[in-house]
Amino acid sequence: SATAPGTIDRTAVRVIAHRGSSAALPEHTLAAYRRAIEEGADGLECDVRLTADGQLVCVHDRTVQRTSNGRGTVSAMTLAELSRLDFGSWKSPGAPEPSPVLTLAELLELVADAGRRIELAIETKHPTRHRGGTETELLRMLGYYGLLPAMSAESSVRVMSFSELSLHRIRRTAPAIPTVYLAERRLPLLGRTSRLPGGARIAGPGIELIRADPGLVPALRRAGNRVHVWTVDDPADVEYCLELGVEALITNRPREVLAQLGR
Ligand code: G3P
Ligand code: CA
Repeated sequence: SATAPGTIDRTAVRVIAHRGSSAALPEHTLAAYRRAIEEGADGLECDVRLTADGQLVCVHDRTVQRTSNGRGTVSAMTLAELSRLDFGSWKSPGAPEPSPVLTLAELLELVADAGRRIELAIETKHPTRHRGGTETELLRMLGYYGLLPAMSAESSVRVMSFSELSLHRIRRTAPAIPTVYLAERRLPLLGRTSRLPGGARIAGPGIELIRADPGLVPALRRAGNRVHVWTVDDPADVEYCLELGVEALITNRPREVLAQLGR
């Protein structure tokens, strides 16, 4: 594209739909992810948790209270139990159809059927409880859907975590998958070494963190890291990230962010 030297190519920034198009529709539902694809998002972010019977489901919280009409802890419930709940009515009351829990398999099917390349940013939540079960199942699923990249290939899938342990597990088993170290309040070790915790290739600071520390993203980039920022919904934050050279914006409002980028 015709980008003058020194300016940012706004069209090159990746727009990743956080929990789907989740400002508009209930998070982590098929409808929210479908909407994000229709809106032109480059990729989809989702959180994964292991159920009591070893299935990966896309749920953010430890429990289902906030986002469903039921009660319980995801890891203590079976997929059949979770499937009886409605994950849509808390946000879309009166919707004609209930929204069952979304499995990772269903999300991967949606991406496979999208008809264009869709990036996936999959976040492992609280993985230590399951002695590697989350990572093992995630890699098994990615393998099944042909999403495990060859060593030199550009991967459409990234695995993100606040947990160093989880990122190490992914790296040990599938070193070609890019990993993102998520940081909410601080990035440990930065300054003493250019290496990110967990052997991650990409830094994933929250927007509050980079607003509070304007030197952080430049330092990360000088050290050779790529930077993906969440959750970037405010137009001023979008501009700020562009100035800093952030590569991917993870947002609840993909349509608005794409429009701001001129796409
Ligand atoms: O994309 C990373 C971001 O989702 C991490 O925070 O709490 O929304 O999972 P959280
Ligand atoms: Ca997340």
